Amino acid sequence: MGLTNKQLPKLGFLYLDYVLRFFDHSNFKGWPNKIETVTYHWKNDKERFIKEVKRKKIDVLIGNIPATAYETFREIARELPHVRFIPSMDTQFSNKSKENVTRFAWKYDLPIPKTYVYYNHKNADKFLQKCEYPKIIKKSYEPSNYGGYFVHKVDSYTEARELLDDKKYHPQYMQDFVPMEADIRVMLIGHKPVCAFWRRAPEGEWLTNTSQGGSMDYMDVPKNVLDLAVKVSKAANAEYWACDVAYGIDGVPRILECATAFAAFPYIRDWIAQYIMWSLSEGRFRKPHMPMFNWEELGKMDASILRTLRHLHFGKFSPSYDGEYFGNKKKNYGGKKVHLHKLDKEYKIYDIKRRWHEEWPSEIYNYQDNLALKPAKGMKTKSPKAKDAPHPTTDETSESAMDKIKITKEEISDFFSSIDGIGKKKVKNIINHFENIDEVVGVLHQNSSILTEVTGITKKLVAKIEKAWKELLK
Ligand SMILES: Nc1ncnc2c1ncn2[C@@H]1O[C@H](COP(=O)(O)OP(=O)(O)O)[C@@H](O)[C@H]1O
Ligand SMILES: [Mg+2]
Repeated sequence: MGLTNKQLPKLGFLYLDYVLRFFDHSNFKGWPNKIETVTYHWKNDKERFIKEVKRKKIDVLIGNIPATAYETFREIARELPHVRFIPSMDTQFSNKSKENVTRFAWKYDLPIPKTYVYYNHKNADKFLQKCEYPKIIKKSYEPSNYGGYFVHKVDSYTEARELLDDKKYHPQYMQDFVPMEADIRVMLIGHKPVCAFWRRAPEGEWLTNTSQGGSMDYMDVPKNVLDLAVKVSKAANAEYWACDVAYGIDGVPRILECATAFAAFPYIRDWIAQYIMWSLSEGRFRKPHMPMFNWEELGKMDASILRTLRHLHFGKFSPSYDGEYFGNKKKNYGGKKVHLHKLDKEYKIYDIKRRWHEEWPSEIYNYQDNLALKPAKGMKTKSPKAKDAPHPTTDETSESAMDKIKITKEEISDFFSSIDGIGKKKVKNIINHFENIDEVVGVLHQNSSILTEVTGITKKLVAKIEKAWKELLK
């Protein structure tokens, strides 16, 4: 079972100058073929980078993209449609900014503190004059490992005004203040939780970042938090993932942050690599077994030991003689007493597959650089040039923003029907084939040749569609 050396895809590490490397060769122990390395040197390095990937005949590029390079790498990924990025640019959407995390959560109906994103500073001011306090104000776009440095609590309009006049954040990103017990970091591989811990604020403080003197522990992370993290990982189609969940004093978990870039002990990065090797080899390499709540036991070790542990390998539970003894351990979980090893069936490892269509195309979702492009309304009008951004547009009030940028079924149907040779039936075929409108729009943005998968859509028609789509977006 599994692929031979020759059949295995060619792997490459995606590195960027000045950026910490999440993976290296040591994580991919046992991979039989050479793993290439491609390094992005910033500043106009796009074309050279693309050429190098092509020259090295890389099939899979593995690595995290920092926020500041995210949009460039969306462009790069488009020019390398045959290359699979792990994680995909869509999965890494949340890495870019807090605004992106919020839009991702809105789309998938994931619980977050109520959030307000304003590009229009006047409207933000109106909001701040009438809203309830305290509020949290954050810088949306910033390497997030600053741990709370760009997160502020304001108790009144005056304080909010002063802060925003001083910081000049854009967009202006605010949240309701959630009184919380602690926040919880959950790490997942193939949608299975592999590590989780609490981060508690120092006495009398509200910031739970451990870098600011808080404490952490690994015990008894609640079921609703792990379940939420799994749901979020699935929504992101993430090979690996970390979620920061605010555990409210009301017992409600809400997502604060989620990303593929996070601090992880080397043994966790080994697991991720092993998982990727298993997935890409179609089962030739061993699927890592990462037992549920392993973190409660490993977490008893000193961090200095955890930092040096490598290639941890757990065997599966088997009800043998010693199993009788060790397998009886039960845990209070989700209001029940359960055998730990049974939870491994409930939280299984999924084999994440590549998706072919762009879910978060920059034309729509890069608000930061291209605010004025609002396809739902703007589809039929000329959209202002990107260089005019950031430029306040209409009210971007919180949740309603999502509705505004959505292209409706009617709009997309009108668009297709306007093309010679496409009638109602074909429009229906297209929409049914891709199942949802976002997917159709993604195909149009990324690779319209995929439309030939639909019955009745010929290459000729695709050419027409492509032309019309480009016209529309002009
Ligand atoms: N809406 C909120 N209500 C209460 N506390 C919050 C809220 N948002 C963030 N915090 C606190 O601030 C910390 C940092 O916020 P976070 O969004 O994670 O930004 P950072 O990128 O700085 O880590 C969180 O860990 C949490 O303790
Ligand atoms: Mg944080």
